[in-house]
Amino acid sequence: MANEKVRIAIIGAGLVSDFHHVPGIKLDPRCDLAAVCDPNEQLLDQRKKEWGPAKYTTKYEEIAADRDIDAVIIATPNFTHRDIALACIEGGQHVMCEKPLGVSYEEAAEMYQAAKAKGVRHMTAFTYRFAPSMKYLSHLLKSGALGEPRHFRSQRFLDLPETSWGWRQYKKLAGAGDLYDMTIHRIDFAQDLMGPIQSVCGAVKTFVPRDKTVDGKPCAPSEVDDWSALIGTFKSGAVGVWEGSTLMKGHHNNGVGFEWAEVNGSEGSAVYQLVDPNYILVGKHGGTMEKSLVPAEFMKPAGSPRNPAEGKPSTVFRYDLVYELVSAIIEGRDAVPGFDDGASSQAVADAVLQSYAERRWVDVPTM
Ligand SMILES: NC(=O)c1ccc[n+]([C@@H]2O[C@H](COP(=O)([O-])OP(=O)(O)OC[C@H]3O[C@@H](n4cnc5c(N)ncnc54)[C@H](O)[C@@H]3O)[C@@H](O)[C@H]2O)c1
Repeated sequence: MANEKVRIAIIGAGLVSDFHHVPGIKLDPRCDLAAVCDPNEQLLDQRKKEWGPAKYTTKYEEIAADRDIDAVIIATPNFTHRDIALACIEGGQHVMCEKPLGVSYEEAAEMYQAAKAKGVRHMTAFTYRFAPSMKYLSHLLKSGALGEPRHFRSQRFLDLPETSWGWRQYKKLAGAGDLYDMTIHRIDFAQDLMGPIQSVCGAVKTFVPRDKTVDGKPCAPSEVDDWSALIGTFKSGAVGVWEGSTLMKGHHNNGVGFEWAEVNGSEGSAVYQLVDPNYILVGKHGGTMEKSLVPAEFMKPAGSPRNPAEGKPSTVFRYDLVYELVSAIIEGRDAVPGFDDGASSQAVADAVLQSYAERRWVDVPTM
């Protein structure tokens, strides 16, 4: 496909597609927005005006059967990911799918096996791997600058309203709450930094019923967690601690919330913060944590036309997901993170649920 553009379809024209997938497509001259699919006709009309020319359809089956589409981005409610992904994979399309890949580890593993068997590129939209300070932290760790990795620590707090969370609050539609929505990203980047998680002891809790919509209408109460936490051991012998919540009052911060992820090695420590993703905190033994700008080579992928000085730092690195998908397609290599990473994170998340249900440590199954 040397001289052709990668033709991408968006399946699910909701919040996250508008927030960063479509801007990512518009920014990358190597691809085009070829089609948009959503069963909500009113939203589809709105997107036509906002996103411009493309095929617009309410049926994903039409996208999966369309030979003029090279790749799809699936950004629909979690319970639909599996069927849509399997149909598009069967149609020979490359697939980026939002996290969590499925509503269980079994679904996610099935999606990975299907993509692998068909030989299409597969990618899980684990956004925070693309943050400049996360990429630099990974470089520091893997180059040995922090010494032997010992501890991983993650906190992700949102201050969301206590009204209905829509499809996200029902087990059949979402799979789990904060654990699948937020903590799963942190499980993913922890495994990217520290290697596979071996065993977990976890807990989840639902504090608020969310039995009213934003307009005050009654609705069925939430069935999923709004707080999730785990401690875990990595195969390497390192240990980790994670906590996430959607109910952390005072942490709204214009919708960005609070995030802190830290690695402590035998020589030094380093911290990534979503609120300040172009800066990193680093401290060496006997010293103090000091903040510095991430070096230019980690600000964006090599070759990307994105100007890191433009836009809100906590938003614009998200455009790099599309850049990675398109690069993998053009270069004929695996996209990173793949469905294998999506499935292994979900194996850890499901082990957290099992651990809490059975009140014991659980070993994470391997694919
Ligand atoms: N990676 C991230 O940082 C990030 C951020 C937000 C959301 N997400 C994930 O993205 C997905 C979507 O989240 P959202 O916030 O955009 O949700 P949303 O509810 O705003 O949008 C989902 C859209 O999918 C549409 N849809 C439902 N069934 C469909 C089908 N069969 N075919 C096509 N479209 C269908 C809905 O009509 C809706 O417009 C979820 O899996 C969520 O976990 C990821």
